Amino acid sequence: MHLAVFLLASVLSAATFALDNGVMRTPPMGWLAWERFRCDIDCKNDPKNCIRQNLFIDMADRLSEDGWRELGYVYVNIDDCWSSMERDENGRLQADPKRFPGGIPKLSRYLHDRGLKLGIYGDMGTHTCGGYPGTTLDKIETDAQTFADWEVDMFKFDGCYSNATEQEKGYPLMSKALNATGRPIGYSCSWPAYQGGLPPMVNYTQLGEICNLWRNYGDIQDSWDSVLNIIEWFFRNQDVLIPAAGPGRWNDPDMLVIGDFGLSKDQSRSQMALWAIMAAPLFMSNDLRTISSEARSILQNKMVISINQDPMGIQGRRIVKEKSDIEVFWRPLSSDASALVFFSRRTDMPYRYQTSLSKLNYTTGSYKIYDVFTDKTMILKDSTNFVVSVNPTGVVMWYVSAPSKLNRLQFYRGGNVQDSVYTGDENAIPRVFL
Ligand SMILES: *[C@@H]1O[C@H](CO)[C@@H](O)[C@H](O)[C@H]1NC(C)=O
Ligand SMILES: *[C@@H]1O[C@H](CO)[C@@H](O)[C@H](O)[C@H]1NC(C)=O
Ligand SMILES: *[C@@H]1O[C@H](CO)[C@@H](O)[C@H](O)[C@H]1NC(C)=O
Repeated sequence: MHLAVFLLASVLSAATFALDNGVMRTPPMGWLAWERFRCDIDCKNDPKNCIRQNLFIDMADRLSEDGWRELGYVYVNIDDCWSSMERDENGRLQADPKRFPGGIPKLSRYLHDRGLKLGIYGDMGTHTCGGYPGTTLDKIETDAQTFADWEVDMFKFDGCYSNATEQEKGYPLMSKALNATGRPIGYSCSWPAYQGGLPPMVNYTQLGEICNLWRNYGDIQDSWDSVLNIIEWFFRNQDVLIPAAGPGRWNDPDMLVIGDFGLSKDQSRSQMALWAIMAAPLFMSNDLRTISSEARSILQNKMVISINQDPMGIQGRRIVKEKSDIEVFWRPLSSDASALVFFSRRTDMPYRYQTSLSKLNYTTGSYKIYDVFTDKTMILKDSTNFVVSVNPTGVVMWYVSAPSKLNRLQFYRGGNVQDSVYTGDENAIPRVFL
C-alpha cells in the first residue's frame, strides 16, 4: 500500500469522536509512581522511597528544575496506596493522614504553583488492587466530586475487585460524573486490560467516547522481557488499536521504565522510539533524583518527543517483519513528514540492514533524514539502497521530512544527493546540511 493510501485511511479512521473534555489532545506526559515505587508504605525504614507527600514533592521539584516540564513532562501521578484504609465520616476518600499530612489539596497547590498537574488513582470495585478502599457504583459521583474539589487534573481508574457487569456500568458512569463536576480531568481507564484488550469484549469506539487513555494490556515490569512482550502485543494487534487512537484518546502501553534497572542503553532507546511510534502516553516511572545522564538524555530527546507529540495524533504501525529479526515501524506525521524505526530483535551483533525508502512504501522523491539519536542528517532518494546498522535489541530512528521541502533545500545547496548511503557509521554519513 502506498504512503498516501495509508495516510488517507488513517485520517478517516481518526475522524471518530473523542471524549469532549478538551484535554490530552496529544499524549499526556509526566511521571507516575507505580512501577518504581509500587506500594511501599514503610516510611519508617524507607523514607526516601515510600508513597507519601514528600516523594511527589521531590519529583515535582525535579520536573520543574531539571528541564522536564519545558519538554512537556507535566503530570505528577499518584498511583495505588495513597489513601487511608477508611473513608471519612461523609463517605469520602481521604489521603493517609500520616503520609500526606497536608492532604491531596496541598499537594495539588504545590504542583499547580510550579506549572505541573496532579494525577490520582482509584479503582472500580470494592478495593484497589493494593487493598485500599475502592469505588463501588454507588460511590462514583462522590469520588469524582472529591477529586474535582481537590483540583486533581487526571484520574486513573483501575479495575480490581469488580466483575464485567459492574465495569460495564462503572467506567462510563465515572466519565459522566467527572464531566458533571465541571473540571476537565483526564480520564485513564484500565477497563480494556481487564477485558483482554481486544474486541468483541472491548469496544474501542465506546472507549474513545468516554476515556482519554486506556490501559489495553498487562502491567509493565522493569525488564526487557516485559517491554518486548508489550511491544509484541501492541503491534500484533495494531489493526485493531490504530483506529482507536487520536487526539484526546490514546492506547496506553504503560509506563516508561527508562532510568531504572532493567534496560540497557539500546533497550531504553527502543522503548522511547516505539512509544513515540505508538503515540503512547509518556509516563516515566523512575527516580528523577538519581537518574543517570544517559537515561535523561534519552527521555529528554526533543526529536523523539516531538514525534510522540505530533498534533495529528495518528498511531504508527509495523510495516516490515524480516526473517532476520529486523522490523521496521512507520508513523505518519504532520507536514507530510514521517518517522521510521529500524528495530533489531537479534541478540548477536549489530546487524547491517539494507533497504530503500521505496521498499518502505515511500513515493518518488528525495527525503531529508534526521537521525533522532545521533543528530546526523542526510539526503536519501526513494530509490537509493542504504544500510542501517542496528544494535542487538536496539533501534535506529529517523525523522523523515516531506520530499517537497527537501527539493527546495536541495536546489539551494546544490548538493549531490543521488548517492547518499547510510552505513550506520556516524562519520560516513554524507553531511549535506552540516
Ligand atoms: C462535558 O461534556 C460536554 C459535552 O460533551 C462538553 O461540552 C464539556 O466540555 C464537558 N465538560 C467537562 C468539564 O469535561
Ligand atoms: C457482579 O457483581 C454483582 C454484585 O456487585 C452481582 O450482583 C452480579 O451478579 C455479578 N455479576 C456477575 C456476572 O458475576
Ligand atoms: C460500541 O460502542 C459504540 C458507541 O458507544 C456503539 O454505537 C456500538 O454499537 C458499540 N458496538 C458494539 C459492537 O457493541
